[in-house]
Amino acid sequence: MMRKVRKAVFPVAGLGTRFLPATKAIPKEMLTVVDKPVIQYVVDEAREAGIEHFIFVTGRNKAVIEDHFDVQFELYDTLAQRGKSDQLSRLQRLQPSPGQTSFTRQQVPLGLGHAVWCARELVGDEPFALLLPDMIMQSEKSCMRDMVELYEQTGNNIIAVQECDPAEAHKYGIVGRGETTHTGFRITGMVEKPKPGTAPSNLYINGRYILQPEIFSILESQEKGAGNEIQLTDAMLRLEKRQPFYGYHYQGRTFDCGSPEGFIEANVAFALWRKDLNQGMAGVIRGLLDDYEPLLHRARG
Ligand code: G1P
Repeated sequence: MMRKVRKAVFPVAGLGTRFLPATKAIPKEMLTVVDKPVIQYVVDEAREAGIEHFIFVTGRNKAVIEDHFDVQFELYDTLAQRGKSDQLSRLQRLQPSPGQTSFTRQQVPLGLGHAVWCARELVGDEPFALLLPDMIMQSEKSCMRDMVELYEQTGNNIIAVQECDPAEAHKYGIVGRGETTHTGFRITGMVEKPKPGTAPSNLYINGRYILQPEIFSILESQEKGAGNEIQLTDAMLRLEKRQPFYGYHYQGRTFDCGSPEGFIEANVAFALWRKDLNQGMAGVIRGLLDDYEPLLHRARG
């Protein structure tokens, strides 16, 4: 019997040093893209894929993430009294039910593999989704929903991938591509942050996974890898010797909100994606490009 993917893990302990001073007191996951914090996009994607329980692996200074997913009684009451039913119902739609969220702390920054291992007791003995909150995605149907559909056909482990510029491969986990199956393909090998020229393909791991619980016992003994951190990719490579891994080639857009450029790009792209904002936004962007043309011209030399 195939076990349903009911739980999702969100590693949110990272310090966000690339966004200082913005992230001195605010977690990077709470920075906003248009009018929602980054983490809300990722949780919404998981919910759309049928996830019922949301597990956050947090760290110091991240308590506001827990507040964000709690009921804000005074706010809801004020909105109701003022007849602001649109805003109220939007908040209520996004509100997890009591008992649907769990929080644990990573305590020490030892890498993504270690962060995932910290969720082992909360996940227990069942398959789970893993969503890296730096990456937010845009498509009609969510990346994780497509992955759950592939999982229902293949079982085992699923990793979403996309093509990258070969010159960027050293920044990511890269997978090897084997035979096509269903809506995906068999993964043959993977490597975390390959040295230039050694990547097995240009398919990079874009931050969405469905994993079997056996990953936890492997992570338990996983030694440090790239960047002197406990790497999830290294542990998945060991699990792949025992269980198949399938790749899902996502066709939508991915924004890496871990970098200022990706974060700004996400803001513009999600404003253009929103039907209530896109006409106005398109005019604003065109106007700005015209206004700044002399400066851009000078910079081009
Ligand atoms: C992590 C993963 C890597 C993946 C990337 C996607 O790396 O280890 O395999 O490609 O996320 O963002 P990090 O960004 O933590 O260096």
